[in-house]
Amino acid sequence: MKKSIVVSALLLALTFLNAEAAEKLPIDRVTGLIEDIGLQDVKENCTVCHTGRFIVVNGGDKKFWTFKVGLMRKAFGLWKLKPDAKERIINYLSMHYSKKHNVTVEEN
Ligand code: HEC
Repeated sequence: MKKSIVVSALLLALTFLNAEAAEKLPIDRVTGLIEDIGLQDVKENCTVCHTGRFIVVNGGDKKFWTFKVGLMRKAFGLWKLKPDAKERIINYLSMHYSKKHNVTVEEN
């Protein structure tokens, strides 16, 4: 009995620690985007043209982001990406920007 209480308490503590870690992903001050592998590629190939807000307010899975990156290439002047950079960008975007976020005017 006592043991199970200790185990539950530990599990609970771990849950909070995890939640905190997830919230505390550092945000890049220049782009406003989450710092992680792939951000450097996004900086070199995406936010050179427009703000990171276009990315933050959009959101979807790999298919969604592959489509958007293809759209940038076809219609908006994005150059041909190196395959490894493209993969990092799609992975980064679909991992961190999988959902649409509501952005208020103040945040822009
Ligand atoms: C050569 C310039 C250029 C580059 C590079 C570029 N974009 Fe864009 N992007 C644009 C323009 C122009 C628009 C349209 C802006 C508007 O609608 O006012 C746009 C719009 C967007 C939008 C919002 C419109 C939509 O259809 O959802 C997203 C998302 C986006 N870009 C993502 C990206 C990503 C991700 C990259 C990097 C892989 C990228 N862009 C690289 C020029 C660029």
